[in-house]
Amino acid sequence: AVSPMVDPFGRSIRYLRVSVTDRCDFRCVYCMAEDMTFLPKREVLTLEELDRLCTVFVEKGVRRLRLTGGEPLVRRGIMTLIRSLSRHLESGMLDELTLTTNGSQLSRYAGELAACGVRRINVSVDTLDPERFRAITRRGDLAVVMKGIDDALAAGIHVKINAVALKGVNEHELDDMIRWAHGRGMDLTLIETMPLGEIDGDRLDQYLPLSAVRRDLASRWTFAESDHRTGGPARYVTVGETGGRIGFITPLTHNFCESCNRVRVTCTGTLFMCLGQEDARDLRAPLRASEGNELIAAAIDEAIARKPKGHDFIIDREHNRPALGRHMSMTGG
Ligand code: GTP
Ligand code: 5AD
Ligand code: SF4
Repeated sequence: AVSPMVDPFGRSIRYLRVSVTDRCDFRCVYCMAEDMTFLPKREVLTLEELDRLCTVFVEKGVRRLRLTGGEPLVRRGIMTLIRSLSRHLESGMLDELTLTTNGSQLSRYAGELAACGVRRINVSVDTLDPERFRAITRRGDLAVVMKGIDDALAAGIHVKINAVALKGVNEHELDDMIRWAHGRGMDLTLIETMPLGEIDGDRLDQYLPLSAVRRDLASRWTFAESDHRTGGPARYVTVGETGGRIGFITPLTHNFCESCNRVRVTCTGTLFMCLGQEDARDLRAPLRASEGNELIAAAIDEAIARKPKGHDFIIDREHNRPALGRHMSMTGG
């Protein structure tokens, strides 16, 4: 086995998130502006380059690979990349190949994903109300996503539902979402809005601290701490009434940077050592500079050696909402 990369704080880097495109067919209000300008093609890594880059990370000890976006499944030829990367599952170099998706293209790809060894996926569903879904995603059709989820489950893929907890938007729906997700054998993960990318005041006002949400839920549901871990930052409870799990991702109310095991690469080949920090290292130049992988490997080492201790997201106590630490986009969460 390959020994992992270790950062200055002794954290082993075993998990890589790769944004395969900046494009998305939705425009979720907390993620994108209404009219987005996307990157010109030449800026974006080709499928071959993405494959090569992922492979270098796998050779450097990364055991989990998560494709993100934008929306990963809108990238043309995405299955070529996934099929190719699945060779690392077969060789035992990789424990998990997965993706985070908005579900819009899942019906089309569920069978192929399962055939490539994708055993679980995360699908973002913030509401079960079709009109509210349209309002949050601006373009999404909930029925299409629901069909996608059905098809993924039918293909034998485990589905985890991601919901960003939004004040005045979905906070009163959480009980229904728990019943729905658990009724279908899916974990539900609640996420605190992070001040990333284009953020305006309204969106910050939608911030809900999950510490309070959890207390509220616990007044109606029986929670037991769970030691279930997926390699991500979620901390889980098991719900007595349903037998299902709820995950809480709490970058603001409960910082989890101490156990960070991950880095992320954008679709332009920029390596971000932390989601909430600006420091980054370009890998596209070394990738395009030579056929061999030595330059890339050296650039990765150099970057890991300066992985920061944690993010800069903070809560503005006066307004009880996230303050803009720094803007970020394109890193796929
Ligand atoms: P698994 O635990 O492997 O299922 O994945 P995950 O929940 O970490 O990944 P997913 O892509 O579903 O992301 C869910 C939420 O977690 C998103 O809002 C991400 O932005 C957030 N997230 C994932 N990793 C980090 C991280 O390192 N730092 C912070 N602050 N947020 C993260
Ligand atoms: N804060 C928290 N989560 C976010 N996501 C997108 N933008 C944000 C944000 N600003 C979530 C999506 C998806 C995952 C990849 O990240 O809902 O589930
Ligand atoms: Fe697209 Fe996901 Fe951003 Fe929504 S949160 S616009 S689905 S990338």
